[in-house]
Amino acid sequence: MSETDSMKQLYDSIQVLEAPPSWDGREELSEEERLKALNRPLMAWYRENARMLPWRSSKDPYRIWLSEIMLQQTRVEAVKPYFHRFLQELPDIESLAKVSEERLLKLWEGLGYYSRAKNLQKCAKILVETYEGKMPEEFEEILKLPGIGSYTAGAIASIAFSVPVPAVDGNVLRVAARVLGDRTDITKPSFKKRIESLLKVTMDQENPGDFNQALIETGALVCVPNGEPKCLICPLASLCKARRDGLYREIPWKAPKKSRKKEALTVLILEREGQIALRKRPTSGLLASLYELPNKPGRLEEKDIPKAFGLEKKEILSVEPLPAAKHIFSHVEWEMIGYRVRLKGTFGGALDLLFTEKKNLEGKYPLPNAFSTYRKLIM
Ligand code: ADE
Repeated sequence: MSETDSMKQLYDSIQVLEAPPSWDGREELSEEERLKALNRPLMAWYRENARMLPWRSSKDPYRIWLSEIMLQQTRVEAVKPYFHRFLQELPDIESLAKVSEERLLKLWEGLGYYSRAKNLQKCAKILVETYEGKMPEEFEEILKLPGIGSYTAGAIASIAFSVPVPAVDGNVLRVAARVLGDRTDITKPSFKKRIESLLKVTMDQENPGDFNQALIETGALVCVPNGEPKCLICPLASLCKARRDGLYREIPWKAPKKSRKKEALTVLILEREGQIALRKRPTSGLLASLYELPNKPGRLEEKDIPKAFGLEKKEILSVEPLPAAKHIFSHVEWEMIGYRVRLKGTFGGALDLLFTEKKNLEGKYPLPNAFSTYRKLIM
């Protein structure tokens, strides 16, 4: 046998091994019918395979809401300790409404997207003031709350109150696009709207909360975003057009993102007799109201530091360059360089600087992850 023949035989055998778990051949199904046909295998699979997750053990809308907000930015495993810590200190909507912003941001520290934490509290205050401290049960009412979009409102209404509304996140968009063999750009709001209206009528009306979580779970565990989907164990494989046509790389389609703006920044570890200087950020914009290490735009040289930061040369004991660092936000990227500047005890401070004991960085002042490289160098 020639080399090409033997290769062909090998490929043929792989094809046989990888044949879809019996494509059901129902070409004629409309989109609505195809999605409706998912319900039975999906729910059976979920009953057997759902992960035991802390927020799945109760129908408390507060827990479900909190978990969904945390899960929008971080993986399940990373969310678990935050979820427990948050609930231990703020066990209900009232305690969330009352907590100081500083403590709230400290509990959120490391999760990123701090505006989400602030919106949680804004909502909690509205709930206390106008809804007797309770989450409303209707999808439309939940949707009116700040920071809550159709996905979160759908998740809360369906999981906590069994309202038959879909909760369409990135996982669900991916699964739906693949099952329907749809090459539309899934980041388009019109695609999400279409999937939401389809699922609203096709979803399991008796167990909407489980249905939504089952689709999310399939997206997270089987029809995965990175790498090959696990079609051989997928409960939806026999109905999936992308699987039938070998299109899992092409679907879901996402239009290329615009490149992020890069911003250069010079960051200081500014020390005075064992204390460290922090600064509070403005109350709006990126990382609003959080503390930060003093910094200025641009890549400053050592000689430019005194003027840029309003320090007198005679007050400076030493300046030592630190490693460069990078932090990626959703729309900008910080390219940082840093210096450790030691000041004499006679330095009288500056209006915008707060000098504090280094140990307070552990408990008191929320310092965003963006500064983690320099935070680790604070000894
Ligand atoms: N990701 C988003 N919501 C989720 C949920 N309820 N369970 C597991 N992963 C999720």
